[in-house]
Amino acid sequence: MSTDPLLLQAQQILRHNDRGGYTVPSAKLYPFQWNWDAAINAVGWQTFDEDRAWLEIEYLLKGLWANGLLPHVVFHQPSDTYFPGPSEWGCEHLTPPTTSISQPPVLSTMVRLMAQRSRDPNVQTRIAQLVPQLLRHHTWWHTDRDPEGTGLVVSYHPWESGNDNSPAWDAPLAAVPAATRPYTRKDLGLADSKHRPHQHEYDRYVYLMDFFRECKFDAMRIYRESPYCVVDVAMNAVLIRADRDLAALCESVGLRREAQTVARWANRGAAAIETLWDDKLGFHVSKDMRSQQFLPTPTHAGMMAWYAQLPTTREPERRAVMQRQLDARLASTPCALASCDPKAPGFDPLRYWRGPVWPHINWLLGSSLRELGLNEQAQRLSNDTLALIQRSGFFENYCPLTGEGLGGPDFSWTAAVYLSLKAESVTAGSVP
Ligand code: GLC
Repeated sequence: MSTDPLLLQAQQILRHNDRGGYTVPSAKLYPFQWNWDAAINAVGWQTFDEDRAWLEIEYLLKGLWANGLLPHVVFHQPSDTYFPGPSEWGCEHLTPPTTSISQPPVLSTMVRLMAQRSRDPNVQTRIAQLVPQLLRHHTWWHTDRDPEGTGLVVSYHPWESGNDNSPAWDAPLAAVPAATRPYTRKDLGLADSKHRPHQHEYDRYVYLMDFFRECKFDAMRIYRESPYCVVDVAMNAVLIRADRDLAALCESVGLRREAQTVARWANRGAAAIETLWDDKLGFHVSKDMRSQQFLPTPTHAGMMAWYAQLPTTREPERRAVMQRQLDARLASTPCALASCDPKAPGFDPLRYWRGPVWPHINWLLGSSLRELGLNEQAQRLSNDTLALIQRSGFFENYCPLTGEGLGGPDFSWTAAVYLSLKAESVTAGSVP
């Protein structure tokens, strides 16, 4: 029996944020189900309530569109503490209503991890039921978001990256017109405005949401005309990894042909992402497809190539360059990996994705580093993440310089990461 009181507290946070089948990220600030949060929260639930964990995934997939888009938010029940709600997105007619954009597709990777950790004798039946839906979702990424078959998918909204206000998006977002219609933000009354995105960013977030609605969500029109169209290196790294995991899931339920197709997507992605490698910087960078400019801001995103376990991470020369970058990045702050290098012009230690440490990123990355034999760096990420939570509580993110908790309190995926990291230190079962 563990004596760590924080384990119990983490479980209580998930139970408290449970809305009967799905978990809200934070009770007031985010009152619905978010896509990549749900996948990560399910892994946390599994450490103490496996049935509830699988229910989280089933609830998320209730939002899957007929064309395979898995929305970034599923509005299972109404709430008036959040803007923009279902009618703003124009998807209020759906059951359940959702947003019209997606988020980093960590789901297949989390499902594979859950299958490996499962104690349920019927887990393969669950997997067989989930795989067709996961296949639909991945097919959507590789068609709607890569209509020319380049091997790299595009995103149309900074929220889609999950790294909403990353300084890497400053230039592409500045080219988006500002919304001129009136609207009222709700986030500023619920969190410290010093932590939240600026108004000029919000005006553009709203413009893009309105634009997708006006396009009636027509994939080709948005591909041609969206003023924001970015190849996000982290999103692509997550997809490569997820393709590989989905191929393994397909194989495990006897879907050989599907497994081969998905494995081909993963290989094509891994080859294509190398066009984003910047030899001078020593990491992969995102690209603005409208200006054709690379986006070299040193955020955590370039480090996600480790998470994708690209073949190049195993080539000695390239690996040495990447490792120097990783080590320099880790040396630049006292606590874990920051979302932006403190030396970068856009760095802000308090504002969301412009500097703070995000526990789930450190967890995802740390597991891969361990598998690639970078034990010291992996240990640093997990020790620092646990220490931040132990010192400051279960916050949304943390100041990379002082370790102060920032954003929403009692945060679900922070609780889930704590539970998972603790379980891994007992059983050594990390992300596959
Ligand atoms: C913020 C984060 C996003 C997350 C959401 C819910 O918008 O930027 O990544 O999914 O909150 O936690």
